[in-house]
This record gives sequence, C-alpha cells and structure tokens, in this order.
Amino acid sequence: MSSGFDVKDSIMQIKPYVPGESKLTTDKPIRQLAANEAPMGASPKAIEAAQDSVAQLNRYPEGGAVALREKIGERFGFPPEQLICGAGSDEIIALICQAFTGEGGEVLYSQHGFLMYKISALAAGATPVSAPESNLRMDVDSMIEAITENTRVVFVANPNNPTGSYSTLAELERLHAALPEDVLLVIDAAYSEYVDADDYDDGSSLVAKHRNVVMTRTFSKLFGLAALRIGWAYGSADVIDILNRVRGPFNVSVPAQAAATAALDDWDWAMDAKDLNNRLLPVVTQRIRGMGLTVYDSVGNFILIDFDDADRAAAADTFLRGEGVIGRGVGGYGLPTCLRMTIGTEEDMDFVTEALTRFIESEGA
Ligand SMILES: Cc1ncc(COP(=O)(O)O)c(C=O)c1O
Repeated sequence: MSSGFDVKDSIMQIKPYVPGESKLTTDKPIRQLAANEAPMGASPKAIEAAQDSVAQLNRYPEGGAVALREKIGERFGFPPEQLICGAGSDEIIALICQAFTGEGGEVLYSQHGFLMYKISALAAGATPVSAPESNLRMDVDSMIEAITENTRVVFVANPNNPTGSYSTLAELERLHAALPEDVLLVIDAAYSEYVDADDYDDGSSLVAKHRNVVMTRTFSKLFGLAALRIGWAYGSADVIDILNRVRGPFNVSVPAQAAATAALDDWDWAMDAKDLNNRLLPVVTQRIRGMGLTVYDSVGNFILIDFDDADRAAAADTFLRGEGVIGRGVGGYGLPTCLRMTIGTEEDMDFVTEALTRFIESEGA
C-alpha cells in the first residue's frame, strides 16, 4: 500500500492497534472487560494527587520524573538512575524499537505476543519476526531458532497478554544465554504484580546481572491509572541512557507523575486489588470450565476462553454484548476461536458466568 508520501514501507504495513471497546448500544449496565483495566479504579490517594496537580496545568512536568523514579526505586528496590518513565509502557516499547533497531533489524517475539511489539518494530522500520509457541506459551527453543544475525530486540511479555501464560526465570535465563551481547532482551512485566508463582521473576534479577536486559512495567493495570498513561522501565545505565536520548523531554504528564507517586504510597490499596483479582481468577476459571469450555491457565487479570470455533466465539461475543458485557475478540493475535475477558468485580464475574450459561443454553434452543 502506498500513501503517496515518502514514508517507510514498513509503516504502511502496520495494522493500527484496535483498542478494547468501551461503548455499546444497549440500555443494560455496561461491563467493560475488554482492556484489562482495574475494576475497582485507582487508589483514592492517587485520584486526589492527580486532582491537586491540575492547579499547575500551566507548568511543564518534571522532565526526568525524578520524584516518581525515586519512589519506584524505594518501593521495588531499584536504583532510580536505572529507571525511565514513559507515557504508558507502550511508549517505552516504541522508544526501545526506535533506539535499538531500524531498517535491516529484526524484532523477535513469540507467536501470540502483545501486538505492540510488531507495530513498534514496523514503525521503526524493522522487520517483525514471530516464533511459534507451544501450548500458548513462549517456547524458548523456537525463540532461539528464530534468532538471526539481524536480531536486535527480543520481546517477552511475562505474563503474556492475551494468553495469560508466563515464562519461568529458568526459561528467561536460557533465552538470554543464547542472545549475542548486542541484542536487547525486553521483559514486559505489565501484569507482574499479580503473579505469585515461585518460579516467576519479573525480569529484574536478569536486569541486575546483564547490560542487555530491560524490564518494562505499567501503572495501567494493578494501579488503575490507564487513563493517565504512565509506565516505567528498569535497565542497565547504558540502556537507560540510550532511551533517555530518544524520549521526549516532557513525556509524562504532571497528573500522571503525581498520581503514580501517590499510588505507590497506597500499597494496601494495590494489594487489595491484587487479592480481589487473585481470589476471583481461579473461581471464574473453574466455573467456565465447568460449562465445558476451555479456559487457559492465567496468572494475569484476565482469562482466555476458547470456544473451539471462530463462529461460536463471535456468537458468544455478540450474545455477551447484548447483555452489556464487552469482552475482547483476539483474532488479531491469531486466536480467532477465543475471547479474552478481564477479571472485573465479583458482581461482574457472577454476571458474566450467568450470561455465558445463558449463551450455551441458547445454542441448544
Ligand atoms: C503485555 C502488555 N504490555 C504492555 C501493555 C501496555 O500498557 P500501558 O501502555 O498502558 O502501560 C499492555 C496493555 O494492555 C500489555 O498487555
């Protein structure tokens, strides 16, 4: 496809990201379960901090997000000078591609990996390469097989969206060991706060040991600040220095910095949000499995339901929308037989499971 402008061919290959929908034409209460957002909202302290900050809307933000980086460093135990903040982790993913690859470079990720890796790779002029997964999990051997002399950046979402699966620290170490030193391994840990598994690591232990590993995180999920667009990354001093060179000088807004800083001070709120999710996740999974549907094991704040048939998944989506439930079709991820559903409130989840039961009954009618 040609635009008539002198833009990179790879940009014209991008299929723009389609965000989860938030509106429906129904008079039923809407349950927005399409974008893995926090069902209980943000911490009241974070909301208050954002509100207070608007008195200074005429002022540019603090460009280096110094106070926020210090707070992140204190909370998670990382040196603030090895952190960078972005307008969502999406921005950091884009900056990584812009800085570490370009025409002739390859960006590797696994088959059902988060879509922004492909989009950001193409935007940077690089070639996206996806490696087959096994059982909807990143397969280290197939990733290693896909490494070429042109590989520049390797993305692993851990846990991955939309599959909900995670890679163990041992798997990540094995993948890292196979990478040349000038290839950057990006561990996208957007959902890491939800994960309790003993063999899981958010990537930070690899960052501490290796110059060519960076971990990305977000305030959009557990902390409920998706609207403000705020994410961050932890990497070696060299990687952070490179990213700071391509970062816009005022890339994170004043309300975003204020709210994120306050959110980290309200740790109990975040842990309550996690507990709610982690209590509902297995219950909802079991209930839907009990209906005869496949639900993949998830460690995130969402589940992936497999209807075994693309038409059936589409019919379920339409039925649920008629009930006010907005889930997420994941055909764009190569999973046309599946629907992804955020874990909402307890009431949302009761409603969703009842609505799915009604859907299955309606099929027999
Ligand atoms: C795996 C993964 N990484 C990154 C992001 C981007 O999050 P944000 O840009 O809101 O920080 C998402 C959002 O859904 C995600 O699922």
